[in-house]
Amino acid sequence: MAPEDFQQRLLAWFDRHGRHDLPWQKPRTPYRVWVSEIMLQQTQVATVLPYFERFMGRFSTIEALAEAEQDEVLHLWTGLGYYARARNMHKSARLVVQQHDGELPVHDMDAMLALPGIGRSTAGAIIAQSTGRRAVILDGNVKRTLSRLHALPGWPGQPRVERKLWELAEHYTPSCRLTDYTQAVMDFGATLCRRGQPECSRCPFNDVCIANVRGEQKRFPESKPK
Ligand code: ADE
Repeated sequence: MAPEDFQQRLLAWFDRHGRHDLPWQKPRTPYRVWVSEIMLQQTQVATVLPYFERFMGRFSTIEALAEAEQDEVLHLWTGLGYYARARNMHKSARLVVQQHDGELPVHDMDAMLALPGIGRSTAGAIIAQSTGRRAVILDGNVKRTLSRLHALPGWPGQPRVERKLWELAEHYTPSCRLTDYTQAVMDFGATLCRRGQPECSRCPFNDVCIANVRGEQKRFPESKPK
C-alpha cells in the first residue's frame, strides 16, 4: 500500500477516534513522554494513568528522579509490575543528569539507545512524540497491525520476520505530523486492530488488509513455533 494512502487513512481515523487527552500529551516534554513510554511498555493506558499522575506529582523533573532513593521510585511503581523498568529508569535519570546536563538526548538516537531500558522502538516513540522529528516505532501494536495488513507469514520474534516488520514500519512512517502519526499507530493497534477481537468492520483498511480480505485476521501475527 502506498505510504501516503496509509498515512491519510490512519490520521483521518485518529482525528476522529484516537486519544487526544492523555496526560503526557500536555505538556509533551521529553521527560513526560519518556516516563509514559516506559510505563506503557507492558501495561495498558487505563492502568498507567493514575501511576503517571502520582509519579509526576512526586518527580516533576528528571533531576528530582535522579536524586531520589531507589526504594522510593520502586514504591511509586508498586502494582505496575516489571520492576526492572523502574530500576532502569532511575539509572537512566542519573546518567542523563551526569552526561547530558539533565536533558534527555532526544536529538541523538545512539545516546538514547545507550540508556538502560530504552530500545529502538521506545527511542523512536519518545523522539517522534516529543520533538515531532521523523523516527520509526515498532511496538507490539504496530507489529500486529502490519502483520495483518500484509498477511505476513512467520512469528515476529524471528529475526527475519522482525527485520521485515521494521522495513514496513519504515515504509509507512511519514515525514510530517510525526507526533500524531506515532500516537495514531499505537492507538489503532490498541483499540481497533486488537489481538483478540479486531473491529474489522470499522477499520479504514478493511478493503486492503490482506488478512481481513482472506478472513484470516486471527491468524496474524503468527504465534511462536512449538
Ligand atoms: N503503548 C505504548 N505507548 C503508547 C502510547 N503513547 N499510547 C498508547 N499506547 C501506547
